[in-house]
Amino acid sequence: MSSSKNRRDFLLKLGTGAGMVALAAQATASLRSLVPNVSYDAPTTVKLGPPGEFPDGLKFLPDERLFVFREGNTFYAISASCTHLGCTVRAEALSKAETKTIEGTPFRLTHKFMCPCHGSQYSGDGTNVSGPAPRPLAWYFLTVSPDDGQLVVDLAREVGHDFRLTVA
Ligand code: FES
Repeated sequence: MSSSKNRRDFLLKLGTGAGMVALAAQATASLRSLVPNVSYDAPTTVKLGPPGEFPDGLKFLPDERLFVFREGNTFYAISASCTHLGCTVRAEALSKAETKTIEGTPFRLTHKFMCPCHGSQYSGDGTNVSGPAPRPLAWYFLTVSPDDGQLVVDLAREVGHDFRLTVA
C-alpha cells in the first residue's frame, strides 16, 4: 500500500471520528433541552419549632445562622451573617437595655452584635455602626405554619426592622 493511500485512509478516519463526536455532542445538547431546568437548591422556608419553645429574649439557631427574638407573644428574626464577608456575628447582651425608635415605634435593644472576623459592630436591631460591614443585618419574615403551628422563617424574604409576628 502506498504511503499516500495510508495517509488518505488516516485522514478519512480522522474526519469520520470528528463528525461522530460533533453529532454526539449535538444529540446530548438536544436531549438536555428536553429535561426541565429544576433547581435542587435548599428550600428557603425552614421550620424552627413551636413558638412556646422559644425563651423570652434571644435564641441563636446555628443551622440557620439566625437570632430569634421573643417578647411575650411577639417574635422577630435577625440574620447572624455579617454583611461584610459573611462570618457569623456574635450577640452580646447590653449591661442596660436601650430604646431606639424605628418607624415611629419604640424598640427595646437588649443586645449588640459583633463580628469576630474584621470587627464590624451592629446595634441590637442589626444596624451596622462600625467596621467594614456595608449594611445592616437582614431581618427575615416569620410566620406560623398552618399545619403544625411551628414558627417558620423565610430566608429569601427580607423584611423591615419594624416587622413583628404576633402569635395568638
Ligand atoms: S466578615 Fe464581618 S467584619 Fe468582615
